This record gives sequence, structure tokens and C-alpha cells, in this order.
Amino acid sequence: MDDRTLKLFHLSDIHFGLEDRRALAWVEECIAREKPDAVAITGDLTMRARHGEFDAACAWIRALDVPVTVEIGNHDIPYFNLFERFFQPYRRFHAIEDLIEAELDLPRLAIIPLKTTTRAQWQRFPWSNGWVTQGALDETLAAIDAQPAGTRILVAAHHPLTERRERDNKLLTINGTKTMAALAGRGIDAILSGHIHDPFDMTVTTSGGPLRMIGAGTLSHRLRSTPPSFNEIVIEGDEIRVNARNLEDVATTDMLIKEVPENALPPRAPGDPVAPVGAVPAIDPPVS
Ligand SMILES: [Fe+2]
Ligand SMILES: [Fe+2]
Repeated sequence: MDDRTLKLFHLSDIHFGLEDRRALAWVEECIAREKPDAVAITGDLTMRARHGEFDAACAWIRALDVPVTVEIGNHDIPYFNLFERFFQPYRRFHAIEDLIEAELDLPRLAIIPLKTTTRAQWQRFPWSNGWVTQGALDETLAAIDAQPAGTRILVAAHHPLTERRERDNKLLTINGTKTMAALAGRGIDAILSGHIHDPFDMTVTTSGGPLRMIGAGTLSHRLRSTPPSFNEIVIEGDEIRVNARNLEDVATTDMLIKEVPENALPPRAPGDPVAPVGAVPAIDPPVS
């Protein structure tokens, strides 16, 4: 049995087109030097799914010399070309097709994708938030059930699964509550996600049991309340440790937000969740 310690890098929301080059160069160097066992990228590779942004994203990811899995974010589906959005939503990913929603099998650990991004949502517009369809959930649960007993399981998705914000009743991810309960019932170790642009590591109670949710920050200039960062996840024996690494040397405890906000925009209203570091940009980041 292989009991060695595993180290993963969990990256998210690089948003090529508005990427932070300094942060990316640093991450690249960390990956080359430390050779993590795998890199999980939880979506929003681009800003507007433009061809040039995809070319840059694919070239960057291809150059990483470690196993990689990539989830699709709401920014990665063609925005201006509706025909392509509906019929060939993943066409622009062709250079990294084999990495998209790839399941990674490491020694006694599996990273299993869960799709939360959809082409259209009849319930609402815009379509930026998450939606777990029954088909997507079934696929993920089947992949979990196929793992040999004793395998640690991390599920990777773009959107956090929180369904509703109690404070203002806003819908975050459709079918999120049901999905969280199903994943907790399977006893997964954690679900990794992005979309929020601030990191978090929290355990929530669901009807299926406790569920650990780990979110990675952004490596773009679209900052919410923390500097650009990625998560180092160390799996050692029964323990999974998260370190929100960043160039500003902010301690992980100060990087982590305690509540999942409704979107990645900087907190502007009183009571909006913000990390203790509170590095909120003076003006909202551009969204186009
Ligand atoms: Fe994002
Ligand atoms: Fe997103």
C-alpha cells in the first residue's frame, strides 16, 4: 500500500485576458520546483472565452509538467456566439481536451469532476451561477462508487454548492443542497471549487453528514478581498491541510473567508463576507 504524503495545487479563476502575470510566473515556478502530485484547476480559465484567451490558457496549462485536471467555469463558454454556446460549447478547449473534466487517479486518492456550469438556465438570466443537473450528479456519484474501497476522494467543480444565501435568499447553485447531501453521504474528503475569487476551507452540515468545502482564490486582477493566491493541499495520513499561498505572505487564517458570498465582486454592502486581510480593491474589477 502506498501511504506517502500527497501534495496538490488547487488553482482557480486565472481569467486569461485579465490574468496577473506576476502571480502566474510565481505559480509556474512553484509547480516546476515543487512538482506537486497533481494540479486541479477549478474553472474560469478565461475572461470572455475569446480565442486568444483560450490559446494563452491552453499554452500555459500544456507547459505544466504534472498531471492536470481542468473544470469549466461560467466564463469559459462562448459568450458572444450563441450558436457555438449551445452546440459546441467546449470547442475552444481543443488543445487541452484530454484534461477537461479528467478524473485523476493518484496513489489512494481520486480527483473526480462535477459539472456545475451550464449553457443556459431557464430559471434565470444571466447564467453565471451554478446548476448541478441530475445527469451531472449521477455521473459524479457513479465515478465515486467505482473507486476501490479506501480511496480518498476529492470532487472538483467550478461553483461552490451553497444553494441559497440565507441573508438575502439569493440562489447560488441550483440543486446544490441535494448535491452536497449526496456527496457527504458518500463520505468524500472534500469538494474543491472556485468562482468566488477568495479562498475558503469550511465544513458544513448537510442531511447526508458533514461536508468539507475548499475554495481557491484567483490568479487574475479580478480581486475580491484577498491578494492573488492558490491552495496547496497536503494529504498526509488522515489529515488534509490547506495552505492559501500568496505573494503577499498573508497567513492562511487571514486569507480564508468564513461565508460563501453570492459572487466574485468585492464586498460593497455592510455585512458582505470579507476575509480578515480585507484587501478590497477601491474600484470594482472590470467584468468584460
Ligand atoms: Fe471567476
Ligand atoms: Fe466563475
